[in-house]
Amino acid sequence: MASTIVSVVGGRAVKGDGEAGGAPAGTLTSVNPSRLTDQVAEITLASAGTFAAACAAAKRAQPAWADVPAPVRGRAITAMGRIVEANKEALARLVTRELGKPYAEALGEVQEIIDTCDFFLGEGRRLYGQTVPSEMPDKQLFTFRVPVGSVAVVTAGNFPVAVPSWYLVPALVTGNTVVWKPAEYAAASAMALFELLQAAGLPEGVLNIVLADGAATFAGLEQALQAGTLDKIGFTGSTAVGARIGELAGRHLQSPCLELGGKNPMVITPSADLELAVEGALFSGFGTAGQRCTSLGTVIVHESVHDEFLAQFGAAVSAAAVGDPAQDVVYGPMLDQKFATRFEEYLGWIQPHHKILGSTGVGRVSAANPREGFVGDPEAGLFYHPVIVDGVQAGDALFRQETFGPIVGVMTYARLAEAIELANAPGYGLSSSIYTNDPREAFQFRRGVSAGMVSVNNSTSGAEAHLPFGGNGKSGNGSRQSGMWVLDQFTRWQAMNWDYSGRLQKAQMDVAELTADLDFRLTT
Ligand code: UN1
Repeated sequence: MASTIVSVVGGRAVKGDGEAGGAPAGTLTSVNPSRLTDQVAEITLASAGTFAAACAAAKRAQPAWADVPAPVRGRAITAMGRIVEANKEALARLVTRELGKPYAEALGEVQEIIDTCDFFLGEGRRLYGQTVPSEMPDKQLFTFRVPVGSVAVVTAGNFPVAVPSWYLVPALVTGNTVVWKPAEYAAASAMALFELLQAAGLPEGVLNIVLADGAATFAGLEQALQAGTLDKIGFTGSTAVGARIGELAGRHLQSPCLELGGKNPMVITPSADLELAVEGALFSGFGTAGQRCTSLGTVIVHESVHDEFLAQFGAAVSAAAVGDPAQDVVYGPMLDQKFATRFEEYLGWIQPHHKILGSTGVGRVSAANPREGFVGDPEAGLFYHPVIVDGVQAGDALFRQETFGPIVGVMTYARLAEAIELANAPGYGLSSSIYTNDPREAFQFRRGVSAGMVSVNNSTSGAEAHLPFGGNGKSGNGSRQSGMWVLDQFTRWQAMNWDYSGRLQKAQMDVAELTADLDFRLTT
């Protein structure tokens, strides 16, 4: 029997009877994508009204939460980290069951929450402002970080718990309240994380969770912005939806934190360690079935090493274990039917000038379209053959668009400047990678590539939880998550000046001047 998951607003479960201001908006079943007969949870979807009511509840709870001393809020983050750690295996098992991530990867995902808590627990005692000298006597200047207010966080399901924690943890420690809208197909994992964070003792209304579809969420965001009960939006998802959210927020003079798609390039130079590059391409191209925003899009390999690289890469992908995510595999199923359907469209972009490698078939793995060495029963879930597409050209849709799924393009270059141009050409700018043993090439690439993240002799995936994460161009609006950089998303600087001279001292006018002799020259 699948459990039923409902939104929680202001500490109360919204049973779908019009509580919290909204009527129910239908139900949905979250299904195990590696075993489609396994129903993980029934979800009661909330309406736009419930979403807006959640923002209002968050807004009401925010001043009291901001009054909780920051070191005490930091203690709540400490507790969250320890509670998640104690439930690491259980949460990872649920992520594997609901999203089909191989268990080892799911454990890594939960570790990323723990790392994020470990980083931010100290922020409660650090949240530094500055004391700044004034240009006048008997006057002191200060800066304070103030919370933004109530925050809506809308997240994808490919990292159903780690990426949400990148928003929730820093937002909460800095004194904001949150409405979290996870991906519907990841609702059970999201609810588990919500309960774990809530167990740290958060007061009612500080963290709210709303299960809603895209249309209700968008309408709810708009209602809340109009009502003045929403001060910031954080969004991880597609470039197209990110653009709409940016437009909506902009109309209310807000700048959202946007973490969008990627078409992440990997450049392989003649000096590269090819074996290492193949390992990196396999992991970042096909890990999570290519459904990370940091997944490898196109390998741009020097023409002199192309044939050798392709032979090794083809062999590695052909030999990779694909299948049951509870076993030791490189990747499991697509996250959800909608990604499987869209992936089939991307496969339609393969053209006669392309050469296909990496498997014993293309498309969905089945008895009629088998993958040699498949682990488990392919018919049970949404499993797809890995595809390497060689001979990709700059005009191809496969080169220009993000293709969320187990597909990697390969093309060649002659000069590094050309490789950099190709790396930037699709107009995304999230992650990038170069394999080289020449430091000049590494730095030339770093300077030229438009991506927010650059790996040298490492894959495009696997960002650590305390470096700035984010992109440019179609990958985002320049906002950065993680580490100290995300503090600028969830706080605003407030400048204070305190004049204790007892007089009105006018800045720029009543300032003492020292007399300098600017014509002074040495006589030697
Ligand atoms: C994402 O795909 O949305 O760098 C985030 C990585 C992970 C996070 C990816 N640590 O692959």
